[in-house]
Amino acid sequence: MEVGYCEESKMLQLTTQPAAEIMFHNQYAFYSSTSTSMERHFEDFASSVVNSEYMQTRGPFIVELGCNDGILLKHFAKRGIRHLGIEPSENVAKVANGHGVLTISDFFSLDIAERIVNDSGHADFFLAANVMCHIPNIVDVAKGIRSLLKPTGVVMFEDPYLGDVVAKTSYDQIYDEHVFLFSAMSVQYLFGLQDMELIDVLPQKTHGGSMRYVLSHRGAYPIKESVTDLIAKEKLQGLDRLTTIQTLRANVERSRDQLVALLKTLRSEGKRIAGYGATSKSTTILNYCGIGTDLVEYISDTTPIKQGKFTPGSHIPVVPYETFRSNPPDYAFLFAWNHAEEIMAKEKDFMSAGGKWIVHVPEVKVL
Ligand code: SAH
Ligand code: TYD
Repeated sequence: MEVGYCEESKMLQLTTQPAAEIMFHNQYAFYSSTSTSMERHFEDFASSVVNSEYMQTRGPFIVELGCNDGILLKHFAKRGIRHLGIEPSENVAKVANGHGVLTISDFFSLDIAERIVNDSGHADFFLAANVMCHIPNIVDVAKGIRSLLKPTGVVMFEDPYLGDVVAKTSYDQIYDEHVFLFSAMSVQYLFGLQDMELIDVLPQKTHGGSMRYVLSHRGAYPIKESVTDLIAKEKLQGLDRLTTIQTLRANVERSRDQLVALLKTLRSEGKRIAGYGATSKSTTILNYCGIGTDLVEYISDTTPIKQGKFTPGSHIPVVPYETFRSNPPDYAFLFAWNHAEEIMAKEKDFMSAGGKWIVHVPEVKVL
């Protein structure tokens, strides 16, 4: 896996990515609804759309890209609001259908957008969370969104934010599925090509620091001050410059060296280390840092489809959560660090029995 930075579009991106069909299929391992804080987040997101200043019609049509198990769209379905999810991973789409969420199982494209317009009309809202950054043919996606959106329609999408990755050295946001890491500048560039514009930005705490981008056709709505403010902040942070990314690279190398040194020291003292959360992010940490079963004994995860399998490349066993409870390690490596608050609240027993946490973001340390 190799990362590049484009000084024209300001996009941090993978230079190669596995084919979409290899990653998104009928055994997709990520179910959105495994975290209660994410459940709450998407319930709030749905309410903010329903109460949005951009809501023009009484019977809106809402389209969501990558709706997964219906974590967001089910709140519209419950309210009887016309909606459609586009979700290529059939196993998770099936769960969404079970919640009364209407989905089509396909990869979004300009063709699909035109088919939706023919069958159901233009969309009032086009929503997406943690999926725009997954799609390499992003210009085709932007064209599809443009043709699908009503003249008064609004796009709201959120993804892990480049500004947070740079500030926290959270390089584990870089993995096969994440072909792009966006900033307001790169999003503005991308949609500017389609005569659309960024009208608002809303920072989110989710996934270790995300940004929600609000867009419309050019001139449909005023541009909020939040956009100009954030772009000024991004320039100060240097998100428009390759040198910033080169500094990130040096920080990543330092973080890796500190992490490996810590794990080796603990193991040499005879401590047992296990992972908490077999996240996609952990795949980057494990492979990039060369961590195997010599350092991390197992990784516990609550997702049934991940259990009994092994981490890609590093071959650490993924075990049910019950194993963590019955056979706790001395140190738990918090691979799901983005859910720290929820997990710490749940693991009071582990901590009061002397269990400690290893975190690597924003810096390598023991808690
Ligand atoms: N929106 C959910 C799921 C994010 S995971 C959340 O935030 O929790 C990304 C999802 O996007 C997966 O379910 C995947 O199957 C889907 N996806 C990937 N490529 C896609 C594409 N080209 N069009 C639509 N959905 C896609
Ligand atoms: P997440 O951090 O959302 O994802 P990514 O794969 O994008 O890096 O994944 C969280 C993983 O952690 C998911 O596999 C479920 C698991 N998990 C637990 O095992 N226990 C928990 O309490 C929580 C919140 C998550």
